[in-house]
Amino acid sequence: MALSSLIPSRVKLIDVGPRDGLQNEKTPVPAEVKIELVHRLQDAGVKEIEVTSYVSPKWVPQMGDNVEVMAGIRRQPGVLYSVLTPNMKGFESSVASKPDEIVVFGAASEAFSQKNINCSIAESIERFAPVVEAALAAGIKVRGAMSCTVGCPYEGEIAPAKVGELARLMKNIGVQRVDVADTIGVGTPRKVQAAIEATLQHFDIDAVSGHFHDTYGQALSNTLAALEMGVWNYQSSVAGLGGCPYAKGATGNVSTEDVVYLLQGMGIDTGIDLDKLVDAGKFISDFLGRKPNSRVATAILNKRAG
Ligand code: HMG
Ligand code: MG
Repeated sequence: MALSSLIPSRVKLIDVGPRDGLQNEKTPVPAEVKIELVHRLQDAGVKEIEVTSYVSPKWVPQMGDNVEVMAGIRRQPGVLYSVLTPNMKGFESSVASKPDEIVVFGAASEAFSQKNINCSIAESIERFAPVVEAALAAGIKVRGAMSCTVGCPYEGEIAPAKVGELARLMKNIGVQRVDVADTIGVGTPRKVQAAIEATLQHFDIDAVSGHFHDTYGQALSNTLAALEMGVWNYQSSVAGLGGCPYAKGATGNVSTEDVVYLLQGMGIDTGIDLDKLVDAGKFISDFLGRKPNSRVATAILNKRAG
């Protein structure tokens, strides 16, 4: 069967801008601006939004307003609101905010696991297990983010076998779906496909999403490579915001605007209104005092101005 025949007819985009996008911003972004961003994303038709994280405010000060942001959101039926919870303390703090889904986040690289969440991969799984169990018992969905599935800022290239092993561990503790993350955006299509292939040993195609940072400008190509495998869930960040505080030099996720344009051009349905999405990206970019980090947003804004 030709790979291209697996290309899905519809794609779900999970905008991680409010969380992955803003977590690394040095100047505090007020809760009301984050809330407005979430509202604009959902008004544009985004059906999944990663809103915030319940991590140590000493480690990631920008996410310290998690409770306030979650409380301020006007929830839209049919939209899934997820939050990151690295341990039981984070999960317990998140419960009152009623997330639809929590995200435990591990890494395929030992060094990154230590830098990001201060424990080994094995220890992280021990910490996640009770979190997953408690979340499922409370009727909350569980996603697992897998960092450094292609490359690590500390260990260099990561073998697909390590990705498969992490996926296996996540599956064993009850994680329902996983993100194959290229944390530092070093991946190219064949390498990303190998990481996804390893993940597919343990998770069904419907339970795998692509999370590609765009540091080296490869994220759209990597998205196309994943589409060819039938992957239909992707995380992206409005205006290309972001970067991980423990992955120095890595830029944001591929911009949601660029992915939507790619998909629309391929006749793949996303349910997202690109013009409204560009407005959402402009809103947050204006607040941050910079231009959207998105070729498509730039082109559309230039066209409007002209
Ligand atoms: P730790 O220091 O090992 O934790 O941090 P600990 O259990 O020893 O506790 C130390 C202190 O932290 C205590 O406070 C705890 O109460 C507090 P103290 O007594 O010193 O005042 N604490 C917490 N506070 C709030 N919320 C919590 C929490 N847990 C402990 N949940 C920890 C472990 C994971 C908390 C820490 O390492 C941390 O917060 N790391 C931040 C990780 C992070 O947010 N990284 C960015 C997100 S991941 C990402 O961007 C990658 C992704 O996009 C995919 C990709 O692209 O690769 C998902
Ligand atoms: Mg990320």
